[in-house]
Amino acid sequence: MNQTISLLTTRRTHRSFLDKPISPQDRALIQEATLRAPTAGNMMFYSVIEVTDQEKKEHLAKLCDDQPMIAKAPMVWLFLSDAQKWVNYFHESGSVAKGEAMGIKWRQPGAGDLLLAMSDALIAAQSAVVAAEALGIGSCYIGDIIENCEEIRDLFNLSHYTAVATLVIFGYPKNPKPLDVPALRCPVESIFMENSYQEPHLEELQKAFGQQEERLREQQRLPFENSGTISDYFYFRKHTSDFMEEMNRSGKKIIDLWLATEG
Ligand SMILES: Cc1cc2nc3c(=O)[nH]c(=O)nc-3n(C[C@H](O)[C@H](O)[C@H](O)COP(=O)(O)O)c2cc1C
Repeated sequence: MNQTISLLTTRRTHRSFLDKPISPQDRALIQEATLRAPTAGNMMFYSVIEVTDQEKKEHLAKLCDDQPMIAKAPMVWLFLSDAQKWVNYFHESGSVAKGEAMGIKWRQPGAGDLLLAMSDALIAAQSAVVAAEALGIGSCYIGDIIENCEEIRDLFNLSHYTAVATLVIFGYPKNPKPLDVPALRCPVESIFMENSYQEPHLEELQKAFGQQEERLREQQRLPFENSGTISDYFYFRKHTSDFMEEMNRSGKKIIDLWLATEG
């Protein structure tokens, strides 16, 4: 099989790493691959903070719904949407002044800029993940970075037009070929649609998630003493959880802060 396709179809999330730093060569290769990710207008609306300070890592692990593996990971990269760099460049290089002389008013970055910068940062993160995988380095995204945005902003001294996009932890996996079975995915036809959105309802959804439900049942992990459904599993475990409540509060704040007029 084509090596890239094989890499992409066998990649798995790793959460347990050897106590061994990422070699400078591997780190540089991952950085180079990250920079080659597509980026809107080639403007690189993102930045990456590598968290090397152990105290910061530990604080970060607590803020991300208390996931100690973050503090133990050899390499921790915080991907930021970053329009601040262009706000500064436009002002400090005189473009804004030139525009004003021509009657073109300064425009603050808006929701579109935020979404574009988020796209840039997430696409770059995935290039880093794939490059790492190719080098035998495991990784795990940390979605809980969206929580506690006020403390995260303070911890990393974030500027107005930066916003956390994602956090990725990397390391040489303790077990490069985990013994547990890989996570299942929905079948292709439940994800790919043609020409218009086809809203799925119960029957299609049961089909789409049926295999995953079956596995959870085999593993005795479904709620209501294993008599529940995969819908119950995600509804009670995730959708109505305290951490999702915090993520939604903090997520709204991230957007509000970006959209707030600079005072
Ligand atoms: C946006 C996003 C956020 C995630 N957040 C976490 C997280 O906070 N903690 C964690 O252990 N795994 C996290 N993961 C990893 C997923 O749980 C993992 O990708 C999923 O279970 C499928 O497993 P696989 O990547 O091995 O196929 C996240 C993945 C993504 C894409």
